Amino acid sequence: MKIFIDTANVEEIKEAASWGIVDGVTTNPTLISREGRDFKEVVKEICSIVDGPISAEAVSEDAAGMVKEAEELSKIHKNIVVKIPMTAEGLKATKECTGKGIKTNVTLIFSANQALLAAKAGATYVSPFVGRLDDIGESGMQLVEDIVEIFKNYGVLKTEIIVASIRHPMHVIDAGIIGAHISTVPFGVLGKMIKHPLTDKGINAFLEDWKKVPKK
Ligand code: G3P
Repeated sequence: MKIFIDTANVEEIKEAASWGIVDGVTTNPTLISREGRDFKEVVKEICSIVDGPISAEAVSEDAAGMVKEAEELSKIHKNIVVKIPMTAEGLKATKECTGKGIKTNVTLIFSANQALLAAKAGATYVSPFVGRLDDIGESGMQLVEDIVEIFKNYGVLKTEIIVASIRHPMHVIDAGIIGAHISTVPFGVLGKMIKHPLTDKGINAFLEDWKKVPKK
């Protein structure tokens, strides 16, 4: 499974990239707003750190506006993927962007039907938001399972599933077991994926025992 990092913070991206585990980056307007920096400047810097798909979101509500933004964003770097919200206008924009060779990530997916329609419109990626569904007492992972199965049934190969709105390491394990293509993971969760108390305990025990080894 590919691992993307879900942040617009360049320090977090640099650190995670140095671990050798980052295949791409996803941002959204909320993540960008936290940085207090110019949108395009941040996106450009992210593209210089990670050589993989970098999602940047369009904020227009009409298809023409989304496509215009997509054209501008895709000029920043060859790796730009334009995030488009799952609406009828978003589907129109996705179809048009696909025709123009612009990669899209249809976002705010909360049902399998939305994922199916986005794939039919030509989306490069669909992003089901698992954490936000869990928050309202629905099953985010059931949604991922349904999308994976539907795409498998019809041999959908051109649209990859990005499991988004990940809140904890179990979401990543479940996404992998289900067979989603990608998990986009916040920096804090990546840190938790590294750690295990038995690893720490084992290191401490080895270091303590090493002190007992006679040194020449
Ligand atoms: O990037 C989209 C998604 O991952 C947002 O997550 O935690 O705001 O639901 P969250």
